[in-house]
Amino acid sequence: MADFNIAEYYQSNVRPDSMERITTPELAKEFIDEQVSCIRKQVGDGKVLLALSGGVDSSVVAALLIKAIGKQLTCIHVNHGLMRKGESQQVIDVFQKQLGANLIYIDATDRFLDLLAGVEEPEQKRKIIGGEFIKVFDEEASKLTGIGFLGQGTIYPDILESKDGIKAHHNVGGLPEDVELELVEPVKLLYKDEVRMVGRALGLPESMVDRQPFPGPGLGVRCTGAITRDRLEAVRESDAILREEFAKAGLNKTVWQYFTVVPPFKATGIKDGKRAFEWSCIIRAINTKDAVTATIEHVDWELLDKISYRITHEVPGINRCLYDITAKPTGTIEFE
Ligand code: XMP
Repeated sequence: MADFNIAEYYQSNVRPDSMERITTPELAKEFIDEQVSCIRKQVGDGKVLLALSGGVDSSVVAALLIKAIGKQLTCIHVNHGLMRKGESQQVIDVFQKQLGANLIYIDATDRFLDLLAGVEEPEQKRKIIGGEFIKVFDEEASKLTGIGFLGQGTIYPDILESKDGIKAHHNVGGLPEDVELELVEPVKLLYKDEVRMVGRALGLPESMVDRQPFPGPGLGVRCTGAITRDRLEAVRESDAILREEFAKAGLNKTVWQYFTVVPPFKATGIKDGKRAFEWSCIIRAINTKDAVTATIEHVDWELLDKISYRITHEVPGINRCLYDITAKPTGTIEFE
């Protein structure tokens, strides 16, 4: 990266004009080499802690840190029970099994779902999920000794948006501000497309690097109203079918965000010749540049037909599928 001063990188939160956009694997490799030496210099023989959600940013930071300092890094993955199908398993497979990371996996599903039981109000749900995440993470972190650094997947839009006061959403995994650890933020001057390019060059699987945006509170905001375990399972299974069918049709490469929502209302239908009073599954697929406004994807009817058939026949408790044809505004992208 021509004329790029490493010291400047760590001291300032401003992307230097001389920093070339990472658009090729070669440029990504250069960035990785540079960061590996930066990280080693910053951390020395210290220990780093990282909350690893499995999202693109924290995954790329984890892979960079593993390359730079190996076992001096400890990753904590908190499964709040609101992950998509197979997501926590993928974190374990990629980071623990393939990359040999020190990974602490916490299945906190019961803690989260017990706290959320009966809570209907969306912002209250977000607060509970965010607050409990910090609690679980802190409890695990306090069992470790000698940690001097905290890795974070901050990216450049986060810096720009928080400076402008735009950022309305705080990610789950946003940690308290009184942490006394020195931050290690190797991708903080990169845009999302560059983070993905670096992730690919680090050998992370395409399904991880190319992931669509996923809210911190996870499926919790798609199992609308008070979350119940059976309806949450219906959201997870229907989402997995939608993702599978979109991937088969190549839409995972072009559609910005797509997911299912299962609200807590039931409607009459027929299954196996009998009356079935079950939930409806809403499919939402949108395109946007910046998530501030969005338009709907005009999904082919035949494909919708197929997805609807699979969801209503494979997911227990669902007897109807609806397609959301609402732009943002007036709808938001998520339902809560
Ligand atoms: P909305 O629903 O506000 O969503 O139109 C805009 C984008 O933000 C994501 N989103 C969230 N991300 N925590 C997050 O980290 C949240 O609480 C949250 N709520 C919405 C949403 O998926 C979309 O990409």
